[in-house]
Amino acid sequence: MLIETQALTKTYGALCALDGVSVDIAQGEFVAVMGPSGSGKSTFMNLLGCLDRPTGGTYHFGGTDVTTLTDDDLAAVRNRRIGFVFQAFNLLPRASALENVELPLLYAGCSRQARRARAAALLDMVGLSARRDHTPAQLSGGEQQRVAIARALVNAPVLLLADEPTGALDSRTGREIMDLLTRLNDGGLTIVLVTHDAAVARRAKRTLYFRDGALLRGRDDALLRVHDGALLRGRDGAGQGLTAVRIPLAAGVA
Ligand SMILES: Nc1ncnc2c1ncn2[C@@H]1O[C@H](COP(=O)(O)OP(=O)(O)O)[C@@H](O)[C@H]1O
Ligand SMILES: [Mg+2]
Repeated sequence: MLIETQALTKTYGALCALDGVSVDIAQGEFVAVMGPSGSGKSTFMNLLGCLDRPTGGTYHFGGTDVTTLTDDDLAAVRNRRIGFVFQAFNLLPRASALENVELPLLYAGCSRQARRARAAALLDMVGLSARRDHTPAQLSGGEQQRVAIARALVNAPVLLLADEPTGALDSRTGREIMDLLTRLNDGGLTIVLVTHDAAVARRAKRTLYFRDGALLRGRDDALLRVHDGALLRGRDGAGQGLTAVRIPLAAGVA
């Protein structure tokens, strides 16, 4: 299993942003994450991405309990094994497309020549060879997101986390980005993607629904576990003693 969380919890004072989430994600999966605003989606993604630490529960990534790692080791996992894509692209405005894609390699201590070659190959893969010297302002939204995807993949991560990657794009451009992500997943990349758009979620092979910091259920109708009076259970056995309640799809969606 690439990702295994057990009762993963994140509290901010009295507020429980993530409430005991247990989920397994295998290598090569393409998982969509949905739920109303404030339901804990970004909190979950930030924990999966080792950008943040849980206040409870465990998280095994590639078999390692990352909750016990030092800050340096956690940063190494984050930088070498996980790529991130965001709604707002988050590119450096004064740097060219090529320089933006090169940046993670600079931190990885790669030679200048190797950086150039690798970044150029990634831009080629996302179809932007002809735009490598353009700055973000000289690129369309869809092109900027392609640059961001190339940057996320330049260190050859095993996991791509995307928090509403099509949220700032028109629907046609969003579909093109989803075509690219589908192609990457077909090549074996594990992808976890937050979206508000059911059409985007349908491109994934499984959907996790969050509500009030807890997981509702997958698209396969398996109920997923929550705490304290709320439902449910996971696709992976257990669940004795819990009352299974089926939640209509719309209830889990904003
Ligand atoms: N750094 C933080 N400090 C305090 N509360 C936070 C913080 N980050 C998120 N929250 C709260 O946690 C809950 C879940 O937030 P978030 O994971 O961003 O939801 P989503 O991405 O589903 O919209 C919200 O109530 C939010 O206000
Ligand atoms: Mg969010």
